[in-house]
Amino acid sequence: MTNISNRKDDHIQLALHKNHQAQAGCGLERLTFEHIALPQLALSDIDISSEFLGQPVSGPFIIGAMTGGCDNGEHINQNLAEAAEYCHIPMALGSQRAALEQTLAQNVRRWAPKATILGNLGATQLQQSGLDLAKRAVDSVTADALVIHLNPLQELVQPNGDRDWNGVLEAIQGCVSTLSVPVIIKEVGAGIGPSTAKRLADAGVKWIEIAGRGGTSWASIELARNSSTKEQQIAEPFIDWGMDTADLIPRVHCAYPEVNLIGSGGVRNGLDIAKCIRLGAQMTALAQPFLAPALESSQAVIEKIEIIQEQLRLAMFLTGSKDLKALQSAPLLQPTL
Ligand SMILES: Cc1cc2nc3c(=O)[nH]c(=O)nc-3n(C[C@H](O)[C@H](O)[C@H](O)COP(=O)(O)O)c2cc1C
Repeated sequence: MTNISNRKDDHIQLALHKNHQAQAGCGLERLTFEHIALPQLALSDIDISSEFLGQPVSGPFIIGAMTGGCDNGEHINQNLAEAAEYCHIPMALGSQRAALEQTLAQNVRRWAPKATILGNLGATQLQQSGLDLAKRAVDSVTADALVIHLNPLQELVQPNGDRDWNGVLEAIQGCVSTLSVPVIIKEVGAGIGPSTAKRLADAGVKWIEIAGRGGTSWASIELARNSSTKEQQIAEPFIDWGMDTADLIPRVHCAYPEVNLIGSGGVRNGLDIAKCIRLGAQMTALAQPFLAPALESSQAVIEKIEIIQEQLRLAMFLTGSKDLKALQSAPLLQPTL
């Protein structure tokens, strides 16, 4: 168990450094909105509010999954949860595995009694421990949904990572048909493409978080933690493996319009959020951008949320989009990426 805590601590420290962020960007930087020089709107008219899982939210973004709240994750989660509650922005927990295995009290509801909170487990933990773990993850925090992360690249580069991915789809299917809350499937930075999306849609999954390449690089983080030079050499060609967020959102959206998408992986500001919505995402998620503020205070997280919200408002004003529905058809200079 201490191993999981140490690993989590390493992850937090390494994720703060820009050399573990993908160098090339997530592709959103290649997309340009047509600048609308005649917006015919007042900035105060712009409405960025939305709905997520049947709950009103003040903007179309989620605080992305980082820590489940064990040991050193506690104060990060408190700062994120208090800000989520205050700002009416959903918060995704990181993996709850360690907290559940140690039967630690999970405090997030003390700090965020009304916020939309998403539970989180790794797909291979489900395959090993079954539905019981999934139910406990949801119940322990009265989660509004369970997020299951797919991270095969990270597991391959991680020392002693999970190498057996048999039965994962069946475990997901079991959660979808049994849990009382929606199941959201996400990657962690290599992306969910059309073939995987098809299998998930066929299994009854209604929400997919893309988590494409272009932001936090888990291959790079795990490589930095792996002291075996042989394993480093094996992993080296895969350091940039994955698919760009900006390529995946329109592809998966066009192929499976009935699946709701959360655009993530390298989303860094309100303009990136506007681009994800334009490409077909319902929601977006940012993880790493909230890490430094979360280490500081809940006020720092609130300020970060307010900055992102204002950036989104500006992007909508400059594209002449009064609300998120209008933003979905804002003109682009290049229609396809
Ligand atoms: C410090 C840190 C810890 C993370 N831990 C988890 C986790 O426990 N579960 C999970 O699903 N994703 C986890 N992630 C992945 C993020 O949720 C996200 O998918 C990924 O970092 C890409 O988004 P980003 O570029 O905005 O960081 C973590 C990310 C960070 C930065």
